Amino acid sequence: MNDGRRIPQIGLGTWPLDDAAAAEVVAAAIAAGYRHIDTAFRYGNERGVGQGIRASGVPREELFVTTKLDGEFQGGDRAIAGLDGSLERLGLDYVDLLLIHWPLPQRGEYISTWKTFERLVDAGKARSIGVSNFKPAHLDRLLAEARIPPAANQIQLNPRITRPEHRDYDSAHGIVTVSWGPLGPGTDLLDDPTVQRLAAKYGKTPAQIVLRWHTALGLVAIPKSANPQRLAQNIDIFDFALADEDVAALSALDDGTTPRADSDTGGH
Ligand code: A2P
Repeated sequence: MNDGRRIPQIGLGTWPLDDAAAAEVVAAAIAAGYRHIDTAFRYGNERGVGQGIRASGVPREELFVTTKLDGEFQGGDRAIAGLDGSLERLGLDYVDLLLIHWPLPQRGEYISTWKTFERLVDAGKARSIGVSNFKPAHLDRLLAEARIPPAANQIQLNPRITRPEHRDYDSAHGIVTVSWGPLGPGTDLLDDPTVQRLAAKYGKTPAQIVLRWHTALGLVAIPKSANPQRLAQNIDIFDFALADEDVAALSALDDGTTPRADSDTGGH
């Protein structure tokens, strides 16, 4: 990332797991080799994520933990108490990455929130800071005022929603793009004939083909699975590479679907 820290390219998404499920799945994921776990205040599962981390027995410093603060923690230094609450629930004394969950431009507080985030880096409570669901126009404003530029922007992104203008903007500004909903949940992406053809060609599962597409584009992806076999296959994608024409064939699946978070009020 642009602050010299490293982010594992595959992480575990935890929405919509509750505390009990998150505790189990996070421990299983870490045992399967995951070192990057993504949660949020809004998911309501930070306690479970913390339990899973402790149950894993893996030292804290080997893990990369992201959380996000949403609207009620924007403005007026509310993010200080917000992060303290997240750290208490997680049972951690810092997070690796703290994100503004949504820009909420109508509130007009993401710049002041960012200033508070910068102080949370100074205080050692967040190692890196970034944003989620920000468009280039929001990032333009933020970059004009930031002392610490955002390290990452987490957006909905998959072969049906490829967002080239967002990816180009992020890479031109040294911002890592993190894909949420990387498998196109709620769509038939994994059944798509192109994805199925490539799965047969490479001897991989459809999910592995799609996740390899994300990593081929230099993206970080955070697939969620509550199923132990799928958890394991989703991180087992680094022993093959897609040919350029196959990356392009997957990118061509973009069907113009409007990203869910473009209302700036929702998404995950
Ligand atoms: P499950 O938890 O039962 O495995 P995303 O991470 O893009 O939001 O997608 C999550 C959805 O994709 C969940 O419904 C999850 O179901 C499913 N999923 C996760 N991994 C796989 C996989 N390897 N193969 C098929 N479906 C998967």
